[in-house]
Amino acid sequence: MYRTLLLFLVVAWSVTVYGQLPEIVGEIFPEVKPKGSTGYLNCTVVNKQDGQKVCWQKGKMEGIDTFDISEDDRILVANNIAQGEREDSGEPKYEIIVTNLGLRIRYTLIVRVLSDEDSGFYTCFIRQQNQNWQTWPSKLGELMVQVAPSMSVTMESVYERQIGGNITLTCLTFGNPAPNITWKREDGKYLPDDKSQSWGADLKLINLKKKDRGNYICVADNSVRPPARFTVEVKIFYSPTCFAVQNTVGQAQNRRFNAKLECIVEGYPTPSMHWEKLQNGERYQISDGDDYSTEKLSSTENMISDTWYTLLVKNVQANDYTEYYCVATNRFGRNETTIRLFETMECQGPNCQSIKTGGSQALCACTLTLISTLISVLFLRFLNY
Ligand SMILES: *[C@@H]1O[C@H](CO)[C@@H](O)[C@H](O)[C@H]1NC(C)=O
Ligand SMILES: *[C@@H]1O[C@H](CO)[C@@H](O)[C@H](O)[C@H]1NC(C)=O
Ligand SMILES: *[C@@H]1O[C@H](CO)[C@@H](O)[C@H](O)[C@H]1NC(C)=O
Repeated sequence: MYRTLLLFLVVAWSVTVYGQLPEIVGEIFPEVKPKGSTGYLNCTVVNKQDGQKVCWQKGKMEGIDTFDISEDDRILVANNIAQGEREDSGEPKYEIIVTNLGLRIRYTLIVRVLSDEDSGFYTCFIRQQNQNWQTWPSKLGELMVQVAPSMSVTMESVYERQIGGNITLTCLTFGNPAPNITWKREDGKYLPDDKSQSWGADLKLINLKKKDRGNYICVADNSVRPPARFTVEVKIFYSPTCFAVQNTVGQAQNRRFNAKLECIVEGYPTPSMHWEKLQNGERYQISDGDDYSTEKLSSTENMISDTWYTLLVKNVQANDYTEYYCVATNRFGRNETTIRLFETMECQGPNCQSIKTGGSQALCACTLTLISTLISVLFLRFLNY
């Protein structure tokens, strides 16, 4: 009680003796500047008396990690621009410009070569001797250093899971202001929740299905150019599936014609694949040689785990008319499909023209085979998705 009265008397006395109390006038406008540039914060005061100091402090007065930068026009901190931030231009990190504006005095705090750490609040206050700091006039200014988004180098770029598993893809970003993060699929397909994109750093993929495999892109944008992107590959383990491009293939015998059998195998990890032939009620494995030639083509369009295999049965003979099996295995399972080679009177396939056998009739058959191959390939693609 006595203390309050005493304080009141002191204040009343100082007002009478010195006129008005010191004050910070107007707002300290926030400053938004790109990294590496120079920021300015203005603190304008009136009624500053002898013995009172106008100070700038980094941080909020009651906050942690605060430090005093200046007192009137004197800098109180180490004032070199950190090594590596910029070549030495001889200019100090901080500077105070004092401008007399009649009754007002403006203390401009200059902060050079702005870095991420310079972002934040700055307090301007008037230090008054023999008074509790909580009564000192003060105002808060803000310096926002814009930093274009970037991605953490610790992010995983490949995720592998089994069908039915769960994954959370996480996008770790830096930037100021904090970037908005979106996830989408690279191929433009919908995410599992039937949306084209998902907001936020985490993308949860639960109960994974085959169709969830592929590349996912995380984009971080905070309006400071350029946005950052990161691609994550999701691989899903599953057992092989074999598709015959055509279940039956025809060819004429004994005229040095070849027959081409084609099979598409999918699965992850990429299955090992071989061909088998049924002969005299027994199946045996076919290998490259005088009678057969096999080929393996990875599908580029679908990059993940589809492989196209062909078996060329050379110089088709009567004992080649039988069943062939495209067999694929990985550690999650095994699958096969059957392709039947049957006898035709005329040559089949695109290589008949050069052999000049049946004229226009053969040509017609070739074109038909070609078209039906194309249709079945398209149909398989369609089934697959
Ligand atoms: C500070 O004051 C100067 C001079 O009036 C002005 O040019 C500058 O824009 C001000 N800066 C801020 C951040 O308000
Ligand atoms: C995946 O997440 C779902 C829903 O959160 C949960 O029910 C399921 O058990 C999880 N599966 C695995 C393999 O952890
Ligand atoms: C983030 O996105 C929201 C909604 O679209 C937008 O209002 C906000 O300005 C964005 N923030 C940044 C930092 O770009």
